[in-house]
Amino acid sequence: MTIIKTDKFPQLAYRKSGQGPALVLIHGFPENGGLWGRVVPLLENDFTVIVPDLPGTGNSTLGTAGASMEDMADGIKMLLENVGLSRAVIAGHSMGGYVALAFADRYPDMLAGLALVHSTASADNDDKKETRRKSIALITKGGKEPFIKQMIPNLFAPTFREAHPSVIEEQVKRGMELEADSMVAFYEAMMNRPDRTDLLEKATFPVQFIIGKEDALVPAEVALAQSRMASRNFVSLYSNTGHMSMIEQPSSLARDLSDFVQYCYNN
Ligand code: MLT
Repeated sequence: MTIIKTDKFPQLAYRKSGQGPALVLIHGFPENGGLWGRVVPLLENDFTVIVPDLPGTGNSTLGTAGASMEDMADGIKMLLENVGLSRAVIAGHSMGGYVALAFADRYPDMLAGLALVHSTASADNDDKKETRRKSIALITKGGKEPFIKQMIPNLFAPTFREAHPSVIEEQVKRGMELEADSMVAFYEAMMNRPDRTDLLEKATFPVQFIIGKEDALVPAEVALAQSRMASRNFVSLYSNTGHMSMIEQPSSLARDLSDFVQYCYNN
């Protein structure tokens, strides 16, 4: 674990392992870098794998700058500079994908490829914003635990969650580690993020979509439609999988990320 201190972020933590072409794995909400624990060992023989804790999660603190997707993209740039990298493939899970898209918008020259893992380039619609407002009200009233306990099981395909109650527990525990203030900051930042589908249409870098057929958060048909927007696209559609392939299908995800990263650095 390396921790860097910058003016914008009092503490930014990341883990770096392996060697070879660089792949950054950005976690989503309500997670930290530990989310990728099942896939990192499958990737680090071939790649330099960099796994940050986004500001306000794990060992990273929220800066005074806030937690907008653009602020967090700046944090990723700072990490890459700290590692001495001018370019990387960036894979983002869900909210991590929103951060990766903001990075692609701000720093396209530093991007060798963009992988959206159960994520979307669209902004929140009005229904989603309303649901987030209700969640923020619940969390602010001290309801972090019921919020997490209700949210986490829905991230998994029904057959997976029924067969693996201890994995769901593990995720609830990780979710509970997140401070209520960070949760609210992330929800507000997600509500305010712009639509970035035009970025997919104009992308000069390859784009990968990892899609779960049973993802209750990012419907497969929405992700599939977006996957066709980029001119060079890789698409993986997993059956019996929800929003969490890094836990539900780690070997398939590692294999598909690996193929994509190799393509990005060779083409
Ligand atoms: C995530 O999995 O990162 C978030 O739940 C995504 C979202 O709420 O839009």
